[in-house]
Amino acid sequence: MNTRRFLQTAAVLAASVLIAACGKKEEPAPAPAAAPAPAAVKTYTVGTDAAYAPFESQNEKGEIVGFDIEVVQAIADKAGFKVKFVNTPWEGIFNALGQGDRDLLVSSITITEERKQTMDFTDPYFDAAQLIAVHKDSKVASFADLKKLKVGVQTGTTGDEAVSKLQGKTSTNIKRFESTPLALKELESGGIDAVVADNGVVGHYVANNAAGSFKTVNDPSFVPEQYGIAVKKGNTELLAALNQGLAAIRADGTYERLYTKYFGAPSK
Ligand code: ARG
Repeated sequence: MNTRRFLQTAAVLAASVLIAACGKKEEPAPAPAAAPAPAAVKTYTVGTDAAYAPFESQNEKGEIVGFDIEVVQAIADKAGFKVKFVNTPWEGIFNALGQGDRDLLVSSITITEERKQTMDFTDPYFDAAQLIAVHKDSKVASFADLKKLKVGVQTGTTGDEAVSKLQGKTSTNIKRFESTPLALKELESGGIDAVVADNGVVGHYVANNAAGSFKTVNDPSFVPEQYGIAVKKGNTELLAALNQGLAAIRADGTYERLYTKYFGAPSK
């Protein structure tokens, strides 16, 4: 290429850069990317053992209601999916998740190291601990006092674990029930000496069903527990959506409103 030719080419190039630059200014803002076709709204099946008021229970109409239910519904609304709650007995609840019969579980489930081996949990959404229920005239004043007594628990719960530790797993004085209300009914009829279960549920039952006949005994040796929503191990997509929804309902005050609605006071 000779010098003249070079200069010509350079000039043409410079001009086109200039035109392009000018042209850019006039160009309308790029059209927004076409909105993706709305994906069908997903419906997730939620397993819950609905015999655990005020967290999950069935009302007179047979509808599943409670704090956990409203929390998950609020999370779903934020995250843009639907939920269908299915009453699921506690004893089979983790299998139902593992087999894919339920997409998630909300059931006042304490996050434990052992459970984390077989399922994934969201960030904690509730602080809890065990609490003892006994008859009003009982001499029980601490957890250690239950060492030799007949104690009712719901099979496979953290209450069961605590009493199993105290008495030994095979102790015949541990009376295991399918549900916590069944254990509490047995206490009412005098078949057992105490019930150990989550504080929210024991407190609720005593206040609403047995205020005249039961009292609760707290023991500082009970370890702090936290509830989480469970998904099948490895279901990171749903887990992330639930965590984002949970953070969103905490941030916008929905969580606090529900907490106060069910527990009569703010969460902290
Ligand atoms: N928090 C206890 C646990 O995880 C008891 C939960 C029982 N929940 C229920 N809905 N029955 O073991």
